[in-house]
Amino acid sequence: MIGPLNHIGIAVPSIKDAADTYRSLYGVTNITDPGEMLSQGVRFCFVNLPNSQIELIEPLGENSPIENFLLKNPNGGQHHVCFEVADIYLAKKKMEERGAVILNEPRIGAHGTLVIFVHPKNSNGVLVELMESVK
Ligand code: CO
Repeated sequence: MIGPLNHIGIAVPSIKDAADTYRSLYGVTNITDPGEMLSQGVRFCFVNLPNSQIELIEPLGENSPIENFLLKNPNGGQHHVCFEVADIYLAKKKMEERGAVILNEPRIGAHGTLVIFVHPKNSNGVLVELMESVK
C-alpha cells in the first residue's frame, strides 16, 4: 500500500513566476532554490507546506516532457501526484502484477531517492509518481 502523499507536481512556464505567486498570493515563505534534472528534462523547486509540498516543474533542455504538457496547458496545470513507498522495486513489481503500466525503470528523482511513474490511464487520468521515502 502507498504511504503519505509527498507532493503535487505542477507544470509551469516559469518557476520564478510561479514561486512569486505562492509568495505574494498565498503567503508562503519556504520555497527551495531551483534544481535541475537534465535527464528528466525539468527544472524544479519545492513549495514547502506544513503537511506536504508543491513541486513546481518547468521544461529544461530539448524534448522536455513538460514542453508537450505546456503546449496543451499554456498557463501550466496539475501534472502529477506523488506518494511515498518504502521500496520502489517492490512497488514496481506489485503494481505490474496488479496490471498497472509503469512508465520507467526506477531512477533518481528530485528528492534524491528512486521514483517511478504510473500511467495516467491506471488512475482516472492522473499521472502518479511513486517515490521511495527519504530515510
Ligand atoms: Co514529482
